[in-house]
Formats: sequence, structure tokens, C-alpha cells
Amino acid sequence: MDKKLIEAINVQLNFEIESAHVYLAMQNYFANKSLKGFEHWFQIQFREELEHAQKFMNYMNDRGARVDIRGFATPKNEFESVLEILETSLNHEKEVTKRINNLMTMAMELKDYATIALLQWYVNEQVEEEANFSELIDKVKMTGNHGLLMLDHVVGKR
Ligand SMILES: [Fe+2]
Ligand SMILES: [Fe+2]
Repeated sequence: MDKKLIEAINVQLNFEIESAHVYLAMQNYFANKSLKGFEHWFQIQFREELEHAQKFMNYMNDRGARVDIRGFATPKNEFESVLEILETSLNHEKEVTKRINNLMTMAMELKDYATIALLQWYVNEQVEEEANFSELIDKVKMTGNHGLLMLDHVVGKR
């Protein structure tokens, strides 16, 4: 694999772990507010981000590229509202989408077809990630604080 691409994938797999921690902090914010449904939803989100990182790691190892695990910034732990959390999440996913697209551009320029095939999975996944948060934002906007408890029950079914 091209050295530049190995470095870029290392940056991305570490960003996936960082994303997991962003959602782990949110999960625990909800736990503290006794919003069990949202706590559950964000726990799944946390696990999915770790799976995204693992998928990149497996691919790198299959290709004989060295995985490099790095540190990252402390995630945000305090929030003003559920809506703020969801909007922060959607913006985070938009950033991820941008980064995945940049990786895809690099892989295409290098004609690395195996990496293109891998990244296509992430391109599709990001459509779902953004849609999930957009949908929750719309739902929260439709409900008041009273409806939030009802919504918490629905969200807990993920
Ligand atoms: Fe991800
Ligand atoms: Fe994500």
C-alpha cells in the first residue's frame, strides 16, 4: 500500500476511536439524566464506531500495513440539551463523511481498487449515520419535554 494512504487510514481509524469516545460521553450524560432509551441508543453508537475502527484495522493488517494507535482530545461531557447533543453528533458525522470522501479521492488517485471497495462501505455507512441523527433531530423538534419521555421509550428499541 502507498505510504500516504497508510498514514491517512491510520488517521481515520484513530478518528473512529475518537468518535466512539464522543458518543460514550453522550451515553453517560443520558445515563445521568435517567434517559435510558437514549443511553442505550448511544451505547450502540459507541460500539458501532469501534467496529468502524476495527474494520479499518483488519483491512490494514490484511494488506500488511502497520496500524498505529494514537491518543486524542478529551470529548465533550457536558451539554445543555438533548437537541444540542444530537446536533453536535450530526455535525461530527458530517465531518467524518468529509474525511471518508477525502480518503476515497486519495484511493482513486492511487488506483488502489481494494481500498476503494473498502471505502465504498464507509461511504454508504455515512449516509445512514447522517440520516439517523437527522431523523432524531426532527423527532426531538416535534416533541416538547413531555414528548421526550415517550421518544426515549421509542429510541430504546434500537
Ligand atoms: Fe464511524
Ligand atoms: Fe459514525
